[in-house]
This record gives sequence, structure tokens and C-alpha cells, in this order.
Amino acid sequence: MKKLYIETYGCQMNFADSEVVAAILKDMFALTDDIEKADLVLINTCSIREKAEQRIHKRLQELESLKRRHHGLQVGLLGCMAERMKEELLQTEPVLDFIAGPDAYRSLPQLIADSQNAGPRFNVMLSEEETYDNIMPVRYDVNGVSAFVSIMRGCNNFCSYCVVPYTRGRERSRSPKTILAEVEQLLHDGFKEVTLLGQNVNSYYWKEEAGEMTFAKLMAVVAEMSPDLRVRFATSHPKDISDELIETIARYDNICKYIHLPVQSGSDAVLKRMNRSYTRDYYMGRVRKIKEMMPECAISTDIIAGFCGETIEDHRQTLEVMREVGYEYAYMFKYSERGGTLSAKRYADDVPDEEKTRRLEEIIALQGELSMLSNQRDMGKIFRVLVEGTSKRSQDQLYGRNSQNKVIIFPRGTEQPGDYVDVKVTDCTPATLFGVRI
Ligand code: 5AD
Ligand code: SF4
Repeated sequence: MKKLYIETYGCQMNFADSEVVAAILKDMFALTDDIEKADLVLINTCSIREKAEQRIHKRLQELESLKRRHHGLQVGLLGCMAERMKEELLQTEPVLDFIAGPDAYRSLPQLIADSQNAGPRFNVMLSEEETYDNIMPVRYDVNGVSAFVSIMRGCNNFCSYCVVPYTRGRERSRSPKTILAEVEQLLHDGFKEVTLLGQNVNSYYWKEEAGEMTFAKLMAVVAEMSPDLRVRFATSHPKDISDELIETIARYDNICKYIHLPVQSGSDAVLKRMNRSYTRDYYMGRVRKIKEMMPECAISTDIIAGFCGETIEDHRQTLEVMREVGYEYAYMFKYSERGGTLSAKRYADDVPDEEKTRRLEEIIALQGELSMLSNQRDMGKIFRVLVEGTSKRSQDQLYGRNSQNKVIIFPRGTEQPGDYVDVKVTDCTPATLFGVRI
């Protein structure tokens, strides 16, 4: 059988999509992790920031020499960059044989055959229905312990800085029946943790004659499938984090006490220009509710530094919110203007790059302190850890995560990946907890 090599960039959704792609092509290609042996190379791309795209352009240049050495090698580009730049990419990147947008993966066999016979091809049609509902992803490149399950696609929020509504199209939910069948299969295959995935999971909604399914209900149904199965979700918009959902997370021991709740900015003026549809006050209300119901719950965030028109005072308010919440973790970025988005059309990208860098560095430094404080608070506590594998630093140590999604390293005993172990925290850095089995 011919060999397929897939390289994935960007978010968890993209990694989940690559598993769907591997499934669609499984009768034509066997997967390889050696690019030199591949007959087909697929690059699943991200457009979220300019840097992400630059990295992929560079990678495509490298692939040109591989293609010269390997006669007959085909190279295809998938994902958000395909959708954003469309067929233009076939002109600017001659290494590409075809490109396919996020809703066009079922047409890959056709694109592969046609481009082989008749030159470059593309399919970047977006769909209002495609959820790859009936496709059981091929789980490659995973630890056999935790897996992603895609439950909805697309986004209707139109945050002004974001390309996702343009690259992934309208929001649509996948049927509960096929989601539950997929989780059932994972349980059967020995997986211990599922992350329910979507650009905006908590607006998941399904209605049929038998009744309706909200995201909170879906979480409960999945949690009840096995007490040994950990359930996580990503990613959520603060506007949709309902009381019902917070109460559901609190009610089930096996729903992880970790919520990624991107704030983006602490300034109401900036939030408004970002079209985030909430205020700082509303956001803090949600955080208070979470902490009231689950004092042990970890919260992480995304923050953008130097958005259009952001003043020093706006930036100061972001730092203030970070302190007020005391985030466990943060993904932090400099604003990067993306063509076609609302902010690119409406607002000037007027914070100079050096100033964006300075603000970002301040944010990163503060988050370092907050993560360290949070980890120090965990010293002496005992956590149930799901073992994922051997630590990178030493063969004698294992690593896993607690419910709060923190990585814990501890000395190897007899346990295997997929086992639960109680670990007492004895030491920490800002990024990692260290402990001993008890
Ligand atoms: N510039 C910088 N960061 C961005 N993000 C999304 N779009 C942009 C952009 N244009 C960040 C947001 C989002 C995360 C996935 O990426 O913080 O939550
Ligand atoms: Fe990147 Fe966003 Fe597309 Fe994910 S959805 S690949 S983060 S642009």
C-alpha cells in the first residue's frame, strides 16, 4: 500500500481533523512517521496569526527539495490556510498538488487522483452541515490514554480579530448518537480520557424528536458512560458558560475541574472592539460562580496583547484581571492582523510592534508568577493522576495529569499508562508539579 505522512499545525481541532483525514484515506494509504518513505505528504495548516502562516510557507519550501528527490511524491495542503488563501496558493506554492479546506476532506481521494492525472486541484467549499459524523477517526500519534472527540465545527461569534468564522464556516453540531458511539469505541480500546472538542463547544445543540441535547446534558451523558473515564472539553466562550454547565461539571467527579475560559482582554473598551459580547464584570461573575461551586477548579485563558487602539490603561486592566482570577495557565499572543477580519477592516493596527512585545512580556512574566503561586498552593496536596507515559527527563519517572490539567512527575513504580495513581505534591516549578506516590 502507498504511504501517507501527515503534519499538523495549529489547534486541537486540527489534530482531530487529521485523524478524520487518516480515516478517509485508510483504504488507499498506510500511515508512516517517516516523511522520506511517503508517497503523499499532507500539511494541515493554521491561519490564526501571521507567524503560523509564515512557518508553513517555510515548511513548503523545504518540501520542494524532498519532492525533487522523490519522483511521484504528492503534496497536499489542508486546513485553515487552504480556506483563507484558496487557489491562489497553488500559484504561489508550486510544490502543492492540491489544496482542501476544512469541509472538503471527503473529496480527498478525488483530489489526489485528479491532481495526479491532470495537474493541481482544489476544493475549498465550506458546508453548513459537514461534521464528518459517520467517520471513526484513526487514532495515530497518541498515547492510547486520551483522545479528542470532535462534537461541533465552525464558529458564529465573529470576534473581530479572528479568521476562524471565515476558515471554518458556520457553527454546526454533530449528532449525539455518533458522538456516543465514538466514545464507546474509545472506552473499548482502553482510552481513559476524552476531550470534547469544538471551536465553541458550549454552544453545542442538537434537537430531534426524541428530545434536545445541550452541551451540559451531553457532558453528563458522556460522564455517566464510565466512572473511570475522564471528561474534558475545549474550548469555551465566556458568554455560553451557563450555570447549568458549571453545575454539571461540579456534579460529576470524572468531569475534570479545569475550564479554559479565554478572556482576551481586561478592558471593556477593548472587549467591545473585539466583539466579545461580554464585559469584564460579566466575566468576573462567571469566574466567581465557578470558584463558588468548585473551589478546586483550575482556570486558564487566552490573552491578546496590543489589540487595535489598546492603551496603557487598557493593558493595565488586563494585568489586573489576570491577578484577580489568578489563572493557572495562559496562552498569550501579540495581536496579528488577519486580512478579511472585522478588525482589519475597521480599526488601525496602531500599537507599534515593540510596544506589543513589551506588553506581551509583562503578561508572560505575570502569568509565570501566577502559575508558580498556584503550584505552590498545591504543595502537600494529594491528587489522582492519570498516567500518560514516561517523563522526557528520565526513564525512572512517569508523568500524568491531575483533574486540573496540571502535569505531575513522580518516580516510576509498577503502574502503566492509563492507570490512576494518587500522588502527593512535594515540589514544583511554574510549569510542573513533582510528587511521590502514596
Ligand atoms: N492575533 C493574535 N491572537 C489571536 N487569536 C485569535 N486571533 C488572533 C489574532 N488575529 C488568539 C485568541 C484565541 C486564540 C486561539 O488565538 O486569543 O483565543
Ligand atoms: Fe488555527 Fe484557528 Fe484554524 Fe485552529 S481553527 S487551525 S487555531 S486558524
